[in-house]
Order: sequence, then C-alpha cells, then structure tokens
Amino acid sequence: MIEVSSSTRELGLRWHELFSRHAEDLYPGRYTANKCFELAEQAVEIHRLAEEKESTIVAHNYLYPEFHEIAEKVGDSLGLSFYVQKKKAPRVDFESVFFMGATAKIITGNATRVFVSDSPDVLGCSLVFGIDYDWLDDWKRRNPDGILVTYVNSDAYTKSISDFIATSRNTDRVIVHAAKMFPGRKILVLPDKYLGYVMKARAIELLGEEGINIDPDLIEIYEQKKGQYWAACHVHQQIGPDAADIALLENEDAELMIHPECGCASSCLYKVQKGEIPHSKAYFLSTEQMIERAKISPAKKFIVATEKGMVYRLRKEMPEKEFIPISAKAECGFMKANNFDKLLVSLREDKVEIVYCDDCCDPRAPYRDDRIVHIPRSAAEAAIKGISRMLAIG
Ligand code: 13P
Ligand code: SF4
Repeated sequence: MIEVSSSTRELGLRWHELFSRHAEDLYPGRYTANKCFELAEQAVEIHRLAEEKESTIVAHNYLYPEFHEIAEKVGDSLGLSFYVQKKKAPRVDFESVFFMGATAKIITGNATRVFVSDSPDVLGCSLVFGIDYDWLDDWKRRNPDGILVTYVNSDAYTKSISDFIATSRNTDRVIVHAAKMFPGRKILVLPDKYLGYVMKARAIELLGEEGINIDPDLIEIYEQKKGQYWAACHVHQQIGPDAADIALLENEDAELMIHPECGCASSCLYKVQKGEIPHSKAYFLSTEQMIERAKISPAKKFIVATEKGMVYRLRKEMPEKEFIPISAKAECGFMKANNFDKLLVSLREDKVEIVYCDDCCDPRAPYRDDRIVHIPRSAAEAAIKGISRMLAIG
C-alpha cells in the first residue's frame, strides 16, 4: 500500500522514476510524468476510499505497475486465494480477472464481500471461455466414474462439477493426489492443453519416483474448441514451440522461467527430459514461483516466458538481476482491462459485487447486471469441495 503521508507530487515523482526504470520497455510511452501525477492523485483517493470501506485491495502479478504499488498483496492465483482466505476482511477488491474474484468469493463465503471492477466478459479469460459444457457432459457420460481436475482458470459452474481444482503451482501434485485417491480411474485435466501436457508428464514422473507406474492413457487432456477459443490461453499460446530455443541461443548465460500455459512448454519439457536442454536452464513455474526461483538462483539473467506484467515485479524486487520478457506481445487484454478509473467507480458505487443467490438462476449462465453477478449457492457449495482439496494440497 502507498504511504498516506507522501504528498501526491512526491508520489508521482517516485512512480515516474520507478516506472521509467523498470517498465518503459514493457509499456513504451505510458508512464509520462503527467500520467504518473494523475495516477498518484487517483491512488491517494483509492487509499482513502479503501480505508472508508474497509477494503483490502489485492492484485494479480500481470496488472499494470501502478496496481503493484497500491495493492496490499500482489501474487499468483493460489497466493491471492490463500491471502484472502486468511485475511477475513469485510471487503476485498480483487484486481484481476473475474474467475479469480469468483474463486475468492467461493472461499470466503458470507464472511467477505468481494468486488471486481468490471463485468465477467471484460475481465474474461480465454480458458474460461473455451470450456464446452456439452462436451464435458458427454465425457462424464462416457466416463461415469471419471475424475475432473480443473485448472482454477474456470467458471464457478465448471468448478462445481469438478473433483479437484488446481493452479499452475500445483496441478502436477493434484493429479498425483487424484491418481492415488482414485486408482485406475480416468482423469480429465482441463481446460489448458499446454499446462495439461506439462503437468501430466510431471505427475507421471512424481508417481514414478514413488514407485507407482500409471497407464498414461488414464490421464486425458482437454483439447476442445469452443468458438474462437481452443483449450489454450491466447497470450501464452503465441509463445510458440521454438521460442524457448531461440531465447536460450540468444542469451546463453540466462535461465529460462516458463509458465506452463506457454505454447513452448511441452516441447521444452520434452527437450529437458531428453537432456537436450539442461535441467538447470529451464524451470516451469507459476508466476509467484518465478519470484521464488529468481531469488534463490545463482543466475544473474533470466528470460521470462509469461505475460509481461510479471517482469515489472521481478525487476522491482531484484534490481540487481536482469529480466528479459520472452515476447513484447505477451500482454493479456483481460487483465489489462483493469485501471484506476474503474477501481474508483467500484469503490465509490460498490460494484461489481459477486454475490451468492439462492439458486435463482442457471449456474451455466448466472444472473448479472452492471452492479452484481450471481453465483448460485449450490454451485458454490459444490465448488468448495475441489477448492478445499487444492488448498489442502498447497
Ligand atoms: P498464475 O496462477 O501462475 O498467476 O497464473 C494465472 C494465469 O492466468 C496465467 O495466465
Ligand atoms: Fe486467462 Fe491467459 Fe489472461 Fe491468464 S493470461 S488470465 S490464462 S487469458
């Protein structure tokens, strides 16, 4: 959080220096001195309103740098969920995409009012949009005792029909857990095929280390197309199969940190497993794990294969190290749809609030208007089962 004692001008000057140093190449021309003064003025008002409304502001790593400066907690999807669960705040303003706010609401229940600052469409996610409910119904019919391991990037309805929820930090361990808890049963991992294949390979490896050999066909990866979305994140998918090789060739002294959603993730893991890329060179990590890895690594230079918002946080926390975004185009328009104007409206007018309803609407198409979005109570209660399993696995 910003220091309230700073004058707006001092804060604007500080931000101008900070953003010019760490984010000019990421967002060329965005952080002029005037823009920084304007943001600082808004930040002071955000801080005042947040105090008045007893709100805790949390932000995902991919958001613009100004959110990193005002949020009480910045992190990955799992870290933010844990934080919100422990904090038990009366109100949380979740600056991220909609599904993360909805997950926080499911975890906190009636204890916390949860707000996002725009609609589920604007704060969308290509993985959420790519889930085909009819295909899932059919899969369940074909596999009546099948187990669904669903990535947290999913809507509340899909979570409600899932056995386990998982994040980029723990999907491999969740698959291991599911395979041991339900031996011999088919497991479907959804909705990201790149993350799915990486996590499947790692889960098989982990099971092997415990002396458990599982038939790889028991772990199926969701690969359906729905509209323009095809079981992949449109931001990470464009970091294609050769991106990792090229980046390592151009930066021989660098370590590569890859988000498992990347289009290069499975080919890169395959090369690591075959010894073509040394184990010590490539790491498959959630956004928060990138911070943890960079802190303990002896390397001085890192290639960051994920949404470029992550690079600001890495540079700010470790100014002595060098962080290179793998692609200047890796920017998520859904995350970047958050801005201070919207957060101010949200705090002043108390919208958009995520609320439980008494099953008044279809969980596949829940009620929403410009002030509230419903989560049917029975869907939330069913979703909590898989989320609790995930939180217990850690
Ligand atoms: P993390 O959980 O690693 O932050 O990832 C969330 C996400 O949406 C990645 O695109
Ligand atoms: Fe969804 Fe991709 Fe954006 Fe992450 S980066 S929120 S997976 S669209």
